[in-house]
Amino acid sequence: MSIRFSAPGRINLIGEHTDYNAGFALPIALPGRTTVEFEPADSGELVVSTDLSPDVVRIRLDTVPGDVTGWAAYVAGVVWSLREAGYPVPGGTLSISSGVQIGSGLSSSAALECAVLGALLQGAAVDRMEQARIAQRAENKYVGAPTGLLDQLAILFAQPRCAQLIDFRDLTVTPVPFDPDAHGVTLLLIDSQARHQHAGGEYAARRAACERAAEALGVASLREASSVSSLSGEDQRRARHIVTENQRVLDTVEALSASDFGRVGKLFTASHESMRDDFEITTPHLDLIASTAVSAGALGARMTGGGFGGCVIALVPSEAVDAVDAAVREAVRSAGCPEPTIEPTVAGAGPG
Ligand code: GLA
Repeated sequence: MSIRFSAPGRINLIGEHTDYNAGFALPIALPGRTTVEFEPADSGELVVSTDLSPDVVRIRLDTVPGDVTGWAAYVAGVVWSLREAGYPVPGGTLSISSGVQIGSGLSSSAALECAVLGALLQGAAVDRMEQARIAQRAENKYVGAPTGLLDQLAILFAQPRCAQLIDFRDLTVTPVPFDPDAHGVTLLLIDSQARHQHAGGEYAARRAACERAAEALGVASLREASSVSSLSGEDQRRARHIVTENQRVLDTVEALSASDFGRVGKLFTASHESMRDDFEITTPHLDLIASTAVSAGALGARMTGGGFGGCVIALVPSEAVDAVDAAVREAVRSAGCPEPTIEPTVAGAGPG
């Protein structure tokens, strides 16, 4: 019997790089999904293909970190991590079709991990928190990207027309209604087409700076810090982003509960400025997209995801969508940057 299982990408509405600082984030799932077709077979390997590459990769079920690299490392990582966690892993063939752009800050990697995980579990009931940890371990220990738990939790706990408030200190996930369309506001997803990767050094450098700052402040994590005034230089700026971003997440939840999208927009813009000036993870290209969207009528705009490329999200009164679309296209064209894709989006459903 063959199994088809899919998992969405995610958009982080706000709360960037807060996950590995025991802070808060507020993601939604994307309508775009990665789908896996799994045909189990009595063999000691998985034969894996994808629509993104002509290569067919054979993964032994006893694979260990280092065996497989490139896109297939995410699949092999899940095999390894499932086995390490004590779950049986079946052999067979896996065909992947990716509906989430790679390197766009929309968590194509966690979508792939969660889709493969769901297919290989073949309906076995495994707690979502445990699934998130298995997928994260695949990414941290097999692929070698020192990422937090945001993407996996965002995907595994997703619900249509809802964001999820995640508290990474006690790992609670609380649904927060998110339906801007019902209030005449559109969430625009603007893909800059500039790509990133988190196994590179910048992500790890931000994580190390946060750990140094917490240690200097004498706290277990930056979640416990309220003032960063005793720090200086770059570490102070990095820590200030985390402390102010945590508050912006809570303020966004409050503004959403009052359907105050004007305030949510201002918090988006403040978050972008903090990522640009304090955490230094945006690029001039993304800054141009975000500031142009706001000048053309968006309530607010921010880069989403780990940074250094990817997407900007903008909250736009529905009647201003065309003006924002045209202004952003014109600005990036004049700056000699690639043509973006710009589309309205909504909070989608979780894996299944
Ligand atoms: C990437 C990581 C997440 C998180 C975000 C930034 O998506 O995978 O764990 O740190 O960056 O918020």
